[in-house]
Amino acid sequence: MRDAVTTNKQRRLRAGVFIALLALVLAACGTGGAQDSLSPASERATSIDGLFRFTLIIAAVVFVLVQGAIIYTAIKFRRKKGEEPRPVKQIHGNTKLEIAWTVAPALILAGLAVPTVQTIFENAEKPVDAIEITVTGHQWWWEYEYTDLGVVTANEMHIPIGKDIALTLTADVGDVIHSFWVPRLSGKRDVVPGHVNTLTISADEVNLFLGQCAEFCGLSHANMRLRVYSHEPADFDAWVESQLAPATVDEESEGWELFVNKGCTACHAINGTEAEGGGLNPGPNLTHFAQRDTFAGALYDSTTENLSDWLANPSEMKAMRPDLNRGMPNLGLSDEEIAALVTFLQGLS
Ligand code: CUA
Repeated sequence: MRDAVTTNKQRRLRAGVFIALLALVLAACGTGGAQDSLSPASERATSIDGLFRFTLIIAAVVFVLVQGAIIYTAIKFRRKKGEEPRPVKQIHGNTKLEIAWTVAPALILAGLAVPTVQTIFENAEKPVDAIEITVTGHQWWWEYEYTDLGVVTANEMHIPIGKDIALTLTADVGDVIHSFWVPRLSGKRDVVPGHVNTLTISADEVNLFLGQCAEFCGLSHANMRLRVYSHEPADFDAWVESQLAPATVDEESEGWELFVNKGCTACHAINGTEAEGGGLNPGPNLTHFAQRDTFAGALYDSTTENLSDWLANPSEMKAMRPDLNRGMPNLGLSDEEIAALVTFLQGLS
């Protein structure tokens, strides 16, 4: 009786493990993921993807050959029922074999190195006639400065299709290492305090591409997301123009009063106002905040509800350490003040 129970339990456990493994394997078949590096949307991402596929094919051939040999040998030479154990032939010190299994992998690796190094060098080439953007990683959001165009924005990058975008990536001294990654547009690049790295991205199609910080950078690493919107060139030009327009700030409004008096200007800049240039602690430039779909490291949609919750208690929406100047502090605002500030923010078009 007891044995029957155990067997049932074991059977159920085995079925559970099998289903979990099956789910895991089937999950790999999903396509169309927003961060799927296997569906590249740029020249460089396509070359990286091609290299991956080439490597995968070689690895698959090696896997099949080695596993096939193991399985064949195990079946062919297994001890039959009732057969006496027999001594195994020792092949230690077989020079020919040892040379063979040293040379074969060396040749495979050398063969892989050629296209790998080629792809790395091609992708590292400095693009000509590119749009230059300085990307600064902060705990825990991204700052984009279009150095030639004079646009500064946060988390959401806008680019024209079919044009190289030359990124210069860095972080402030005193910050930590981040990593910029938009899987469908290019490879990853570390963002190191006090050091400059470069990465070129581009997009072949009009779309929204998602990315995120790919280097553990503390409490809200997982909440340090980013978006790249690609546009037809004319639409991109229109976006740039709208970004260069002065902020629409009603300096008589209650929201503006609060923005200045509650200390928001210590971190956030609004171009063309007395809050221009921002303060000592960098927070996102809010000049055209209402043009953004998301906020807080592209973590939340910019809805009235989310913005209100955020102003009421930012750390509850996203793990941060405002006491260490890492993230937005709780300003102890009343419901009326929050409503006025949200209206003000939504008016920054
Ligand atoms: Cu920034 Cu992880």
